[in-house]
Amino acid sequence: MEKLRHVAIIVDGNGRWAKKRGKIRSEGHLAGSKMLERIILHASRKTDIEVLSLYVFSTENFKRSKDEVDYLMNLFMKWFSVSSKKYKKDDIKIIFSGRKEPLSDEVYSSMKKLEERTKDHKGLIVNFCLNYGGRAEIVDASKKIANELKEGLIEEKDITEEYFSTKLYNKLPDVDYVIRTSGEQRISNFLLWEISYAEFLFTPEYFPDFDEKCFDRAIEEYYNRDRRFGNVKK
Ligand code: FPP
Repeated sequence: MEKLRHVAIIVDGNGRWAKKRGKIRSEGHLAGSKMLERIILHASRKTDIEVLSLYVFSTENFKRSKDEVDYLMNLFMKWFSVSSKKYKKDDIKIIFSGRKEPLSDEVYSSMKKLEERTKDHKGLIVNFCLNYGGRAEIVDASKKIANELKEGLIEEKDITEEYFSTKLYNKLPDVDYVIRTSGEQRISNFLLWEISYAEFLFTPEYFPDFDEKCFDRAIEEYYNRDRRFGNVKK
């Protein structure tokens, strides 16, 4: 049976979910945040999954209307401020991947607080990719390495794939499985380094409809896949 340590979800379709119901986009995001909470709890009860990465805001999402960005930032802050209590019981640890700029100090400090409050939790690690871009992460890691070279802390021969991985935003196992909701079939700059050997599932449900049953079905599908990592089947 394939191992499933790291699941990564591209949360997509909140806007279309709302449109289909004659609602405004923010209602889709609110519904999405409620489903996200359910999915996190559900995943935390699956003993094989160690990390759940969630793409909730890309660097490109700042191009959306000010109203929508403001709504999402407020929703994040509100959600993060009440989450640590909720996650204590389930021992869930929250971390973030992404750049600080141009997040406001207020949003950034709500993220740091949540990380601090859950840092000793030993259960599922939830990695929120917020103001995240996969190319930006690779560039940021390269800059750290360039500095170390300049300072004479490492030599060129030290730069291996394993070493490079340690300079990413967080030290996490490679992604095993990427799930994208809403039927779109693209990667949108998500965890580009970490997905090298991942399996993919593009599923039609809009995220606010992607419930525990859909999640379980997705996981079942993963276990039926045959991963070879470039090798041949024995
Ligand atoms: C994608 O749907 C969703 C987002 C860009 C935001 C994700 C946010 C949430 C799930 C809710 C808030 C999360 C937390 C942690 C409180 P879309 O807007 O791109 O949908 P569309 O493609 O149908 O327009």
